[in-house]
Amino acid sequence: MTLTASETKSDDGALDTTLRPQGFDEYIGQEKIKRNLRIFIDAARKRKEPIEHVLFYGPAGLGKTTLSHIIAKEMGVGMKVTSGPAIERVGDLGSILTNLENGDVLFIDEIHRLNKLIEEVLYPAMEDYKLDIIIGKGPSARTIQLDLPKFTLIGATTRLGSISNPLRNRFGSVHRLEFYTEEEIARILARSSSILNVAIDEGGGKHLAAASRKTPRVANRLLKRARDYAQSRDAEIITEKIAKEALDLLEIDELGLEPTDRHILETLIEKFGGGPVGIQTIAAATSEERETIEDVYEPYLLQLGLIARTPRGRVASPEAYAHLGKSLPDEHANKLL
Ligand SMILES: Nc1ncnc2c1ncn2[C@@H]1O[C@H](COP(=O)(O)OP(=O)(O)OP(=O)(O)O)[C@@H](O)[C@H]1O
Ligand SMILES: [Mg+2]
Repeated sequence: MTLTASETKSDDGALDTTLRPQGFDEYIGQEKIKRNLRIFIDAARKRKEPIEHVLFYGPAGLGKTTLSHIIAKEMGVGMKVTSGPAIERVGDLGSILTNLENGDVLFIDEIHRLNKLIEEVLYPAMEDYKLDIIIGKGPSARTIQLDLPKFTLIGATTRLGSISNPLRNRFGSVHRLEFYTEEEIARILARSSSILNVAIDEGGGKHLAAASRKTPRVANRLLKRARDYAQSRDAEIITEKIAKEALDLLEIDELGLEPTDRHILETLIEKFGGGPVGIQTIAAATSEERETIEDVYEPYLLQLGLIARTPRGRVASPEAYAHLGKSLPDEHANKLL
């Protein structure tokens, strides 16, 4: 089975639930966010009020959903889960909101995909806990206003830029999740391997950590793949050698790049002379969807400094040429300016 970064979008069912941290103590990294949230939660509990609405943004698999569950747990309240594309009609949102209990968390994943009409119903709900509903049609139509329970909306998105200003301004706090350090990923791998009862030595852990795209979900997935590989080889411990062989089989290199990442870089270098070139053009030339490139592949390539964003488009960095073993044209340096 081949692993693609796009799979980082979907949860790996049972694996994800058993490995998902249940409280701040188990949630590794993102120290600044945890510090802030702990203060909000503490203060809100003392005031016996729900915490203000929270928005999380950042690349897939960094732990937005997990943090939202932790907030509800620490507040000792219930949580309802839905997503932007799942709320199709105003009535859908109405029934979700009216069914909340006082203090509950409403988690809306992919909140940038809410449609405009629904967003507008959400504004008074977020601000004043009111729901305006229209009864009837035409000249006899009238609006009635319902009081809603006091709830906390937690939104999550991979694209902050696609959220309208009025919506964004109604969140009490907005938090950007950062990529994890290799050391944090190594700690996540250590925690997961003890939960899954998988033996892994330091060399194996380091090797997997380096290839995990600084992303917990990828780390857990690679750990599982390495475990499968070790078992198939009757190896009891995931050593550096086993980890390396498992990743080779998946065509994941030591930076964590997958075939698609390398294809994007190669296209940028070979078809477009290293750039600058627009994202839409890269998408067409690689037959990948623009959104997939922007949400899944590009953030990590940018993070590694293999590509740069310039006003005129994406440019391959000298490191990208070096990583692919290509020689750098003399005039390339000017493009990064
Ligand atoms: N800080 C962390 N410490 C330990 N494990 C983590 C941490 N963050 C995430 N994980 C693990 O990674 C998995 C993915 O996290 P999560 O589903 O919260 O990501 P997400 O940001 O919501 O991703 P998406 O944008 O795809 O919805 C979790 O199930 C959990 O096992
Ligand atoms: Mg999520």
